[in-house]
Amino acid sequence: MTKMKIHSNIHSLLNPGCVVWVSAGDGDNDSVFTVTWNMPVRRDPAMVAIECSRNHHTYQFIRRSGEFALNVPEARHVNQVLACGRVSGKTGVDKFEKFGLTRESAEKIKAPLVGEAFANLECRIAHVVDMGSSALLIAQVVSARVDERHFVDGKLVFDNGLELLHHLGGDRFCVSTQSIVGATMV
Ligand SMILES: Cc1cc2nc3c(=O)[nH]c(=O)nc-3n(C[C@H](O)[C@H](O)[C@H](O)COP(=O)(O)O)c2cc1C
Repeated sequence: MTKMKIHSNIHSLLNPGCVVWVSAGDGDNDSVFTVTWNMPVRRDPAMVAIECSRNHHTYQFIRRSGEFALNVPEARHVNQVLACGRVSGKTGVDKFEKFGLTRESAEKIKAPLVGEAFANLECRIAHVVDMGSSALLIAQVVSARVDERHFVDGKLVFDNGLELLHHLGGDRFCVSTQSIVGATMV
């Protein structure tokens, strides 16, 4: 193997998790945008972190409510994922309506959930790390739901056609479609 030294785009080397839609709202108004930089940070209680630019239209709802939802799309939603990440709610557009996404009521937060997502995580912010123009939002998951075909015995399964979407930068994505079960130590 020949390796080259690189000095930029180093973050792309880390396997990106699933790209998600982040939705937030105050009960009257809401917004949704696309987030690549998200990760689980604690198992129990479940906590997650997202990176969010303070300039985003959706950020005002997140800041005011202290809540947001992570909505995990499947690969077939790739165009809606890109669209929600390229168009800002500042333009006055209703991204749910324009891009054919369905608002679903959350159980514990005011933000609408994205009905098309195969999983929804309702989150309440616990810590905000100031990163200048953006913020790292660390939140506790207060409720979560998932398509039961794709989550069996507490594990994600790909047997029933689940195709997860990962962002590679720009308009490039990749898809994960299978699990490897029973890996053995060499
Ligand atoms: C694939 C993709 C991934 C993105 N990931 C992030 C991210 O991790 N954090 C972030 O703050 N913005 C991210 N963005 C940018 C926002 O989604 C984008 O600026 C969006 O239009 C903001 O919407 P809003 O102004 O309606 O909130 C991403 C955009 C795309 C297309």
